[in-house]
Amino acid sequence: MTSYKELGLVNTTDMFKKAIDGGYAIPAYNFNNMEQLQAIIQACVETRSPVILQVSKGARDYANINLLRNMARGAVEYAKELGCEIPITLHLDHGDSFETCKECIDNGFSSVMIDGSHFPYDENVALTRKVVEYAHARNVTVEGELGVLAGIEDDVVAEKSTYTKPEEVEDFVGKTGVDSLAISIGTSHGANKFKPEQCTRNADGVLIPPPLRFDILEEIEKRLPGFPIVLHGSSSVPVEYVTKIQQYGGSLKDSVGIPEEQLRKAAKLAVCKINIDSDGRLAMTASIRETMANKPGEFDPRKYLGPARETLKEMYKKKNIDVLGSSGKA
Ligand code: G3H
Ligand code: 13P
Ligand code: ZN
Repeated sequence: MTSYKELGLVNTTDMFKKAIDGGYAIPAYNFNNMEQLQAIIQACVETRSPVILQVSKGARDYANINLLRNMARGAVEYAKELGCEIPITLHLDHGDSFETCKECIDNGFSSVMIDGSHFPYDENVALTRKVVEYAHARNVTVEGELGVLAGIEDDVVAEKSTYTKPEEVEDFVGKTGVDSLAISIGTSHGANKFKPEQCTRNADGVLIPPPLRFDILEEIEKRLPGFPIVLHGSSSVPVEYVTKIQQYGGSLKDSVGIPEEQLRKAAKLAVCKINIDSDGRLAMTASIRETMANKPGEFDPRKYLGPARETLKEMYKKKNIDVLGSSGKA
């Protein structure tokens, strides 16, 4: 049994309060390996941003919970060594059961998501309540979810999204006691969010997807004033990475993500946590493909993972500064 406090981590309470008051969002970046974690920490130290390190079921299967926990502990020390003590949360992304959440809480996570969004409403309430009771007794914060996002969430694949019903949010938050709520307003998981044919072109020829449902977000904010809202599926699928992957032999389809301006607008409203995973995968893959193509004789992993880590760091810095608005808030 490890408490997150022993690891130097923080829960999300203070972070979210400041983010709501300040009109910005905390970046929630997924990590599975050392290079991703280094890039996240370097970027957040250099931009003086708080950060939520997200661990999915896929990450735990890939990397092992003990290693991930100790990597997060190391990240706290690493940030200090880089010159800035930033608030760091270790968060379970898309927890699928009480047992998974309990295991993570017992292993030093400071925040968990219980994703009961695929269950009927009453089951979602009961499961979320059970996790909240266990978590709050240990000062761990909990994110719940109402509404379903399209795309892949760990093992669950949803073909279609179901928007969050604003009329359910007060009841859900009141009955469960969650600290934050993930909602569905048009974002989706993965790199294939919108096909080009679903989009229109602006005056500069840039593809613009259907806008997020800000009307739903505003209605939720009215019903839950000052309550922390979370946006999943918020990668922007930058065209530079998609093009580079295709240019260097990847078979990625053309795809359009969530425009950065829409995320910035959401961050100024009630959204105080924005989840980004796929963009990191794209950035890393684009860089590795480029190095492999340009240096075919290279077989030292540091020679292609190093540049990929640098590309990732620059991408996260840009997100913190231009999209989340979290730079300078640590
Ligand atoms: O929400 C899904 C995250 O992007 C994690 O995906 O289970 O493949 O690590 P993963
Ligand atoms: P993306 O696939 O858009 O990066 O979303 C990640 C996410 O929501 C993790 O929970
Ligand atoms: Zn998600």
